[in-house]
Amino acid sequence: MNISEKMKQDWDERAQHHARFWIATENYQTEEVFEQSGRATAQALIESLTDLHRPSWNVLDIGCGIGRVLKPLAKHFHTLAGIDVSSTMIAQSKTWLADHPNITTSENSGVDLREFKNESFNLVYSYVAFQHMPRTVFDQYLREINRVLSPEGYLALQLPIGPYFDVPIEDTIGIRSYTFQEIEQKLRNNGLAFLDDSRIHHNNSININQPFDHRFHIIKKIKTVKPAPKVQWVQLERPQHTSALDMHLYETYADNCAKMGNPHEGIQTLQDLVQRNPKHLSGWLRLAALLLEDGQVQQAVTTLEELTALHPRYQEGKVTLQQLLARHQRESSTSQEEKKQFSC
Ligand SMILES: C[S@@+](CC[C@H](N)C(=O)[O-])C[C@H]1O[C@@H](n2cnc3c(N)ncnc32)[C@H](O)[C@@H]1O
Repeated sequence: MNISEKMKQDWDERAQHHARFWIATENYQTEEVFEQSGRATAQALIESLTDLHRPSWNVLDIGCGIGRVLKPLAKHFHTLAGIDVSSTMIAQSKTWLADHPNITTSENSGVDLREFKNESFNLVYSYVAFQHMPRTVFDQYLREINRVLSPEGYLALQLPIGPYFDVPIEDTIGIRSYTFQEIEQKLRNNGLAFLDDSRIHHNNSININQPFDHRFHIIKKIKTVKPAPKVQWVQLERPQHTSALDMHLYETYADNCAKMGNPHEGIQTLQDLVQRNPKHLSGWLRLAALLLEDGQVQQAVTTLEELTALHPRYQEGKVTLQQLLARHQRESSTSQEEKKQFSC
């Protein structure tokens, strides 16, 4: 499996689970909340373009998901195209964008823009998508963006810029962060440059506790560079690798389900998660805790027994199991006492 196939597989899985959640983990609960978040992102994009944008523009969204940002942008531009590596996201975008004839969406390879002709867009933008891709894939996209942008076209780029951070190549969702110097160099290599880098200098004072900057940076095409030679993407050494962020977000989703009064869906999510990733210890503990909260004591005990059988040296699992068994025994003897008193 190469990186293109891995990105496809992982993002399809996430989209099949709950596309809105994996696109906007804090604004997914209802269509209205999700739509409102799309309007806010579109507004931020328009504002960052100041007076540059024109209604005649053709626009491309890279990593469009189901079209959260495309939809509110439809009234601002002539045509809009969205591409996404996940066929499931694209399938759902057809419904989400059904009433917008000037928007088209399609599945792409996840590594290039081969479906588009040279110089076909005035504006390319991307929001919370490049941050999930390996650096080599981002490089390839920058070269392709240069090719598909019209002379003097613009790129509106959202990407964490601040301290350098990377995750393994197989990680298709972990967040990568770039230094300003690294981005500047990559842009220069691809015939692109920040329009106004004073904004970025301001950005260099990034707060380490808030490393994920969601602003758009406006970048201009300054010259046409040679298209990249065709890349042979190597086979991944660990194609089954699951990101720590995936695990964390599945747990978050399950907790949210419980908070919103739907513990059974949360339990189901965690059961699927630990079946697929039996080494994910905190997933097992969260599952046991949710079962317990839901009054399924015997199921919780069985879950922890399964966990300690799989990981006999995992002390926290054992301790939790003992506490649970003790609590279970206390509760069942209390209820037997109550029954006895009642029958007397
Ligand atoms: C967090 S979502 C954001 C979606 C959309 N940009 C938005 O803000 O609503 C990230 C999206 O990027 C897509 N994606 C991830 N890697 C990609 C790649 N290499 N090429 C194209 N799309 C990709 C995912 O399938 C997913 O739909």
